[in-house]
Amino acid sequence: MPWHETYGILDRFSIDPSERIEPAMTVHTILKMGDPRLLRVAAPVEAFGTDELHRLVSDMRETMRVVNGAGLAAPQIGVNLQLVIFGSNESNPRYPDRPTVPPTVLLNPVITPLGNDEEDDWEGCLSVPGLRGWVPRWKRIRYQGFDVDGQPIDRQVEGFHARVVQHECDHLLGKLYPMRMRDFTKFGYTEILFPEIEAAMDE
Ligand code: NI
Repeated sequence: MPWHETYGILDRFSIDPSERIEPAMTVHTILKMGDPRLLRVAAPVEAFGTDELHRLVSDMRETMRVVNGAGLAAPQIGVNLQLVIFGSNESNPRYPDRPTVPPTVLLNPVITPLGNDEEDDWEGCLSVPGLRGWVPRWKRIRYQGFDVDGQPIDRQVEGFHARVVQHECDHLLGKLYPMRMRDFTKFGYTEILFPEIEAAMDE
């Protein structure tokens, strides 16, 4: 085969070994409350399954793992897209009673409350470090959206799972949990409220 045809094939199929190497994941800085970028309404994702999107999700997973978070929304790293990740296959040893939430990447979410029941519980947030607040949430919800490749997600959940989803999706509306609080007597520093918790398990 003449060299120029070989070259053409290589070019057409992009057989360049350097492109096959997965780039190192990046741990991003998490924006903190007061940063106006946390108050924006995020834009819907329009192109699914792209390398860029996969890279973003990998980086967010790595960022969440490093800070031991239960969830993370793209706006928290300054990316104004409707993309949240949450859940883990491992239960947290400090919260053995807490049910595990399946690891999920959720794009363009829509939340519908199921019934009118609310539930209050403590929340923390990686963007509000060192604090906890008592936050009312819908007890049962349906959430719909897409995974990173555009496959639909449609679940009905309750309790902690429903709380995590509502917390993360609030970030896409520019809402932080203190904006959902009603009882500010239950708002304080984690180390004072829960001295038995050594490292903050935020978010
Ligand atoms: Ni948060």
